Order: sequence, then C-alpha cells, then structure tokens
Amino acid sequence: MSGKTAMRTNYCGDVDSSLIDKTVIVCGWVKKLRNHGGIVFVDLRDRSGVVQLVSNPEDEKVDKIMKGLKREFVVQAEGVVRKRPEVQINKNMKTGEVEILVKKIKVLNESDEPPIEIKDDVIITDANRLKYRYLDLRRPKIQRNIIFRHKLVKAVRDFLDSEGFVEVETPLFVKSTPEGARDFLVPSRLHHGKFYALPQSPQIYKQLLMVAGFDRYFQIAKCLRDEDLRADRQPEFTQIDMEMSFVKKEDVMDIVERMIKYSVEKVLKKQIKIPFERISYDKAMNEYGSDKPDLRFELKLKDIKDEVKTLGLSIFDNAESVKALKVKSLFSRKKIKEFEELVKVYKAKGLAWISMKNNELIGSISKFANKEFIDKVGISEGETLFIIAGEKDIVNISLGQLRLKLGQELNLIKEDELKFVWVVDFPMFEWNEDEHRIEAKHHPFTRPKEEDLNKLEEKPLEVRAEAYDIVLNGWEVGGGSLRINEPDLQKRVFKIIGLSDEKAREKFGFLMDAMKYGAPPHGGLAIGLDRFVTLLKGMTDIREFIAFPKNKSAENPMDGSPSEVSEEQLKELGIKVMDKEKDQSW
Ligand code: AMO
Repeated sequence: MSGKTAMRTNYCGDVDSSLIDKTVIVCGWVKKLRNHGGIVFVDLRDRSGVVQLVSNPEDEKVDKIMKGLKREFVVQAEGVVRKRPEVQINKNMKTGEVEILVKKIKVLNESDEPPIEIKDDVIITDANRLKYRYLDLRRPKIQRNIIFRHKLVKAVRDFLDSEGFVEVETPLFVKSTPEGARDFLVPSRLHHGKFYALPQSPQIYKQLLMVAGFDRYFQIAKCLRDEDLRADRQPEFTQIDMEMSFVKKEDVMDIVERMIKYSVEKVLKKQIKIPFERISYDKAMNEYGSDKPDLRFELKLKDIKDEVKTLGLSIFDNAESVKALKVKSLFSRKKIKEFEELVKVYKAKGLAWISMKNNELIGSISKFANKEFIDKVGISEGETLFIIAGEKDIVNISLGQLRLKLGQELNLIKEDELKFVWVVDFPMFEWNEDEHRIEAKHHPFTRPKEEDLNKLEEKPLEVRAEAYDIVLNGWEVGGGSLRINEPDLQKRVFKIIGLSDEKAREKFGFLMDAMKYGAPPHGGLAIGLDRFVTLLKGMTDIREFIAFPKNKSAENPMDGSPSEVSEEQLKELGIKVMDKEKDQSW
C-alpha cells in the first residue's frame, strides 16, 4: 500500500533508505518544527508515521514558507530523499535514516493552535478528548486502535464468509427487543403517539432469518441500550452477531472458537489454543465467585463450613455458607480495612481473617482458632486466610471480588495472557429482588435444557438453559444460546416471566407467528466487539476503540447531543416536553 494519489507519491511513514536520491511528494500535518542555525526541520505526520523535512536556506522561496509553518498546518512537500548525517540517524523510527530535502512546499490549510496536544502519552482530560475528538483521533496511538479494530472486523468477516455465513442488515427501527436494558425510543411523525424502539440487539430478527432459511447469518451490528454506563459499557455499541440453523451448542461454540483463533492470530500474531476450557455456571460461582471468572490466576474460593464448626462461633454456624480464600501474604491493618470496605459493597456483613506471622496467629478470629481448626484449614507461616459467612450468593460474589483484588495486589495475574473460557449451563431464570419477579437470565428466547423441562412451572429457578457465555480475562465478551423454536414452549417461558398470552402476543406476536411456520432448531451468539478489541490490546476502557463514543453521562461533548429540538419538530411529532420540576402530573 503506497498511499499514492494525485497529490502525493508516498505516505510519510514509508519514506525510507530504499528511496534515497528519489524525488517524492508527501502530504501531512506539521508535528514539530525546529530551526537549527537557519535550517528548518519539520516533522511531517500522516496516518502511516512521521518523516523529516529539511529546508535549504539558499532556496529562499521554500525557506520562507517553511519558516512560516505552525503546528498542525496541512502541507504538501516535494523533495529529494537523502541520508541523514550520521549523528542525526534515529534507529527507532522507520524513516529515521533519511530526510527529504524540500524543493517545493505548499500550505494546503492552516491550523489554529490545537487545544490538545497531538501526541501519545500526554495527559488530556476526558472532556477535552471527547470535545475535540477529531484531534484526539489524530494521535497515533488511538489511530492504531481504530485501525486494529478494522483489521479484526475484516478478519472476522473473512472467516465467517469462508464458513458460509451471510451478512444481513436488520432494521434500526424495531419493536422492542428484550435484552434487559431500557429501550431508546424514536417517535413516529406519521403515527402520532407511536414509537419505534432502537434494537438492543438484532436477536428477534436473526431468529426470523433462521425461519426464513438463511441457515447461517452474521452482522457487525449496532446495538442500543439505555443503561448505566461503565468503562465496559456504551449506550451504543457493536456486536459480532451470529446465528445458525440445525445446530447443537457444540457447533456454535466450535465456530466461535475457530473465528476467535483465526482473527486473533491474524491481528495479534499470537497463537490461540482451542477448544477453550468450559466450566459450569455453578462451578464458576462456587470456585471463583463470578460468572465471568478471570482464570489467569488460580486462587479459588474454598468451602470451610465444616472446618469452622470447631470454632463454635454462631456467626459461622448459623450461616448458609462459609467460604475462604487463602493467600501467601501478610497484610497491614489498613489494607485489611480496605478489603473489608470492598466486600461490604457486595453486601457481605464482614470479613474475618487470620494470619500466621512469626509463628503466631493474628487476625480478627485468631483468639478463637484452635489447633484442630488450623490443622484443617492449613495456615502456614506468612499466609492469610480470609473468611466470609452469610447467604450463599453474597458469600460467593463478595469473596469473588476480594479474589480479584488480591489477584491484582499480589501480582498473581499474568497480564499478557489471553485466557478464554466458556461458562455453560446458566440458570434459565433469576429472581429480580427489586421488582419481586422472575426474569430471564439471558433473554426469554433461550432454550431451557431438555432434562429440566419438567421443572419449568414448578421450580423455574432450578431450570438450566442451553446458554453459554464466552469470558476473556474476567470479562464477559460474548453470550449466546440455543433458542426455543416451538410456540408452545415459548408461551410457557413467557408465562413464567409474567407475560400473559395476551401481553406476549402484543409484544412478540410476530415471532410467535413465525414459529408456527416451520422454525428450524437454531442457536447463536453475539460477541461485544468493543470489549473484545479492547481486551485483546490489554486495555479496559472501550472508548479507546470507538471513534466517537459518549461520555459517562451518555453525552457527546463534541456535537452536543443529546440536545433540545425546535418547537416545530416537537409539534410535528405530537410531543410536548414536560417540566419534571414543575409539572405535578409527572
Ligand atoms: P448480550 O446482551 O449478552 O447478548 O450481549 C452480547 C455481548 O455484547 C456486549 N455488550 C456490551 N458492550 C458494550 N456496551 C454495552 N452496553 C454492552 N452490552 C452488552 C457484551 C456481551 O457479552 N442477543 C444476545 C446474543 C445472543 O443470544 O445471541 C445478546 O445481545 O460483550
């Protein structure tokens, strides 16, 4: 790829010693200017890198223009490539052995003093980065991120194409798709009082494509969810969305594993071993305290309900669950306090601990610890045991969070490893404590496990689903399932989550109808593309890989969205905006 156009012969970053004595034309932005004893040096940047331009003081015309340049001016320069004097050679740069002696130069556009520095590794506030995103995106590191994302998507498309998948676009104005978040709504001008929902995912539409007989579908799909934002969540994000007919879950998992292997090896030149490890949801929760376990380090939660009996402490004896984490380290009181605060966030009532320091037991329960207990749990010199007692889920989750914290504190995590794991056999439903009702753990089109179907109505919370999540380094990067393809079973599931036949018809009638016309067995999965690329590069903030993301309040400081609209627009839509503060009927 030479970058040759009618305006240039080469990209800046491609000008190297193979071009010595050749005339080249480059275009780009002024990165840096130096004037050494009357000779002007300009670092010119484009997407590919930086090349050094040098003026000839005897060429007055060129010299004058070069002396008038400022940072981020857009320039076209023609000149002869020559070897730099030995002392100026920069081996760290691809173009570091050469420079361009400028013969002609033209300012294509001027630039105001940029409000943010256009270079890597400078501190810029989030607000400024997003307000001047077009300048932020000019910085090499973030440009590389966006190009990396492109390359990964290209590899995914190539792979899926070679496996017979057809890319189909599904609509953005849809009827609500239930993925557990709030919908973004779009008012209809033609149908006052009616709204489209923006899709939380293409879930129903991809299922309809299976009914239509496409057999293998994929889409690099925009999904829109009105939910609280975090580093790994944006209101609009992208999925690698796929669906297949006549499959068992092994087929879907196999394709996904091979797609990940192919694309990651292409973009990172890193070997990926498949098949990935699989663990059940129950095991993940019991041993790692998370349904997205970070398996880059071993540390496991251990059930010590029996062992603590020897202590005779009622807080342990009366608890539904008592579990522990043992690490080879001692901690200051201050650190322990920090850990206590952490587990409290996850509703643990307290954190008991015991350490062996200089052959003595110390810690909150040291005075109760007898020899039998110590022998049973096996604490050695320099070790600490953390214990949490309480309700099973609270114990697992809070200790799981402590596990992650300890992993970081004690440097147990192998940072450059990519550890994929499948979590399988998820519960079909979960209890929503706030709303006091049962809801689908994934979405209500997920297929319950055949062997649990007889418990569907009686013990729904014990029913497991044919669902699988793919986890990378402790993050959920994707999720999917086999689907229900029979209207009767779909109705039963809707009923359990509180959707009467009538309500189900109103919301999903078209899907239920489609199921009546020969819906094939099918299943699929979606990978969160933003998360996936971010993790592959060892980072955690997905905004680094999204060209124009929203800030933490779901705003875009650059274009000012969301923004008010004119009275005329509202009128056309038949909408009146209420004043939340003043209007009593709110
Ligand atoms: P799910 O809701 O699990 O499944 O989404 C799949 C993956 O999308 C990513 N993701 C997000 N990424 C960034 N910002 C968000 N707000 C966000 N929400 C989700 C996650 C997640 O694993 N239709 C089903 C898939 C299926 O069953 O085939 C679905 O959307 O990485």
